[in-house]
Amino acid sequence: MMSLDKIKKEFFAELELANSVEEIEKLRVKFLGRKQGLLTDLFKEIPKLSLAEKRKLVPDLNKLKKEVEEALLQKESSPAAKVQKNKTSPISTFDPSLPGEKPKTGHSHPALLVIEEIKEIFKYLGFSWVDGPEVETDEYNFQKLRLHPDHPARDTQQTYYVGKNLLRTHTSSMQARYLERHKPPVRVLFPGRVYRREAIDATHLPGFLQLEGLLVDQNAKMTDLIGVLDFFARRLFGEETKIRVYGHHFPYTEPSIEVEVLYKGNKWLEILGAGMVHPEVIKNTGHDPKKYRGWAFGMGPERIAMLKYGIEDIRLFYSSDLRFLKQF
Ligand code: PHE
Repeated sequence: MMSLDKIKKEFFAELELANSVEEIEKLRVKFLGRKQGLLTDLFKEIPKLSLAEKRKLVPDLNKLKKEVEEALLQKESSPAAKVQKNKTSPISTFDPSLPGEKPKTGHSHPALLVIEEIKEIFKYLGFSWVDGPEVETDEYNFQKLRLHPDHPARDTQQTYYVGKNLLRTHTSSMQARYLERHKPPVRVLFPGRVYRREAIDATHLPGFLQLEGLLVDQNAKMTDLIGVLDFFARRLFGEETKIRVYGHHFPYTEPSIEVEVLYKGNKWLEILGAGMVHPEVIKNTGHDPKKYRGWAFGMGPERIAMLKYGIEDIRLFYSSDLRFLKQF
């Protein structure tokens, strides 16, 4: 039988080294465990002892048992043991079967969604698309399009100036830029931002989007233009959609038209300007107007989105109101 002194020494030596809840628990089992604890074994011996032996041993045994219990409790609540406890707790509470937290992701802006949709429709007809500069020269924004310095049509397209240059008032500025660098046949879209001196209201902003289309080929025809725009409107707004066309004037197209759309049987609404590219524009960009003809159109993606989604105020597009933006 181990002496009490020896047991005591062994216990405190091992307790000193125990640094986690698990190790402390192991000690408790080794010394106080019900089946084979070293102290428990001694308690089991008691009935076999003589009365004198009992009187000698029992008080010391009880005292040691108490000491051991208290030492274990104290060590358990020590900072060292606690650190260990915290280290293990996140693992024991982690439940891999719980649904994860979904990260909040954004999506394309409604005006860009409409541009993407328009691009897809025209891609089917063989059109590609390119970007162009928003800061433009007077030459490309106006003169190459026959809007000469004193042309009255400039009045409706006043803009902001950046030194000698200006913020383009329409994507038509890309017609000349593109034709100067590309030999027909040409089928291309020019989406992008344009600027005008406008008072802000529900349908006007000083900066907005346009999407221009340009086709130049050997026998481009007005009827093709109207047919393509009819196809486009039905693809974008639905098969039952109708368009109507009437005469208009743009200095860079001849003849010129405006197109209205009847969507969901509501009202006829103007959606774009178009026409046959003026022969002088073709000549200005270095091509033979006797050989090449073209047609072009320009529309406003925000207005198209307003019509398509029933949005009544163009300012909503740029107010960054998530209640609005989240709906698309
Ligand atoms: N540039 C015209 C506008 O801003 C639209 C247009 C484009 C008209 C191409 C004819 C041809 O209103």
